[in-house]
Amino acid sequence: MTPREGARTIRFTFDGRELAVSPGTTVAGALLASDVRTWRRSRRSGAARGLFCGIGTCFDCLVDVNDEVAVRACV
Ligand code: FES
Repeated sequence: MTPREGARTIRFTFDGRELAVSPGTTVAGALLASDVRTWRRSRRSGAARGLFCGIGTCFDCLVDVNDEVAVRACV
């Protein structure tokens, strides 16, 4: 998904990349739309993690957003 030209967009950076997304999109949605499939590693095994349940019941999608730590990206 690319924000429509002329439509309002929210710009943010992720790991140094500038991204844009339509308002109302979740963080996970914004990352997936930018072809980011994983954004953290599990503590024990180091396995890649990203979107899993998509409804806020697991902890796979945690991200740090500005000063907020461990935010569920899918909600
Ligand atoms: S993907 Fe499971 S809580 Fe976000």
